[in-house]
Amino acid sequence: MESEVKRIFIKSTGSYLPEGVITNQDVAKLIHTSDEWIKTRTGVEERRRALPDQAASDLALEASKKAMKEAGVTAEDLDLIVMATITPDTHCPAGANWLEAKLGAARAVSFDVTAACSGFIFGLSVAEKFMKVDGQRYVLVAASEVMTRVQDWTDRKNCILWGDGAGAVVLSTEPGGHEVVATHLHTDGEGGKTLLMPGGGSATTPITHESVDEKRHTLKMLRGNESFRVAVNRFAESCLEAVEGQGISLSDVKLIIPHQANLRIIQAFAKKLGVSMERVVVNINKYGNISSATVPIALDEAAHSGRIEKGEWVILVAFGGGLTWGSALIRW
Ligand code: UT7
Repeated sequence: MESEVKRIFIKSTGSYLPEGVITNQDVAKLIHTSDEWIKTRTGVEERRRALPDQAASDLALEASKKAMKEAGVTAEDLDLIVMATITPDTHCPAGANWLEAKLGAARAVSFDVTAACSGFIFGLSVAEKFMKVDGQRYVLVAASEVMTRVQDWTDRKNCILWGDGAGAVVLSTEPGGHEVVATHLHTDGEGGKTLLMPGGGSATTPITHESVDEKRHTLKMLRGNESFRVAVNRFAESCLEAVEGQGISLSDVKLIIPHQANLRIIQAFAKKLGVSMERVVVNINKYGNISSATVPIALDEAAHSGRIEKGEWVILVAFGGGLTWGSALIRW
């Protein structure tokens, strides 16, 4: 029987950043670069690093526990767990299965969503649709990445960008939270070849000494400049699409919370849209690019720093490998 559920709410948010800090000065000990270059070209000042025994599900666990505590939701209450990640603990079981076990969420169904830096928005959209069809009452959407572990620390055009961390939200069908009004998702498989992790999948298995020596298991950004330009356009288009047909315009939106890929990308798309940077959340200076986890971490920080008041409009927006991009419009 089709569910009667029409509205989905974010009940709470949580995030977790591991304690280890890698400064630009630390990076400059590994490769020929400087704090000045990294700050000017990317906005990153430092990034976090997970402990050797912390995998993606461990970071997600901490973020999820915070969100669940705030929502007053226990592990037994969870019906569904969606985890966005491109750095799962293992490819099988899925990262979400590990998280389910660590939470003790025995009733929940759990699975991963893979959409690189847009992963959280894809996960949110999938969860929202599940809830509208099947009527699940409490759903956890987590995004978690250990990006420092998939870097080629000799690739100076890329390794400077990335960090580790996790964010999570509890969704509910109960009114009273922050409504997920609309989500929009897009992909372009043809464009995906410029931002990829070639090793570890069936195209390169079995993993050989040779594939490891060639660092095929690490993240490659082949034409960063090109990606940069595409990203600016996709971010801008997605923000416009988020408000389209909703009876509001961008000037009614209190806060845009973008994926933190590069400060210059964020500034460029905000300028293109004529949106002042005061209405755009930036934390790339502290954490770098944490792929799927940047959006829920920035959302959690904005929510808990009093930057959003009840009833205000918020856009979550991301672009990443795949290529993938999309938005979520939230009524806070
Ligand atoms: O999250 C998913 C989406 N992310 C993206 O789409 C990322 C988009 N791309 C970017 O953020 C930027 O393109 C990068 C940060 C990856 C690179 O910045 P850029 O301003 O595009 O630099 P570039 O690759 O054009 O390189 C400019 C110069 C080059 O020197 P020459 O050839 O002009 O002499 C590089 O060799 O900067 C040099 N360079 C560096 N110098 C010092 C590149 N990396 C470094 C470095 N330190 N780390």
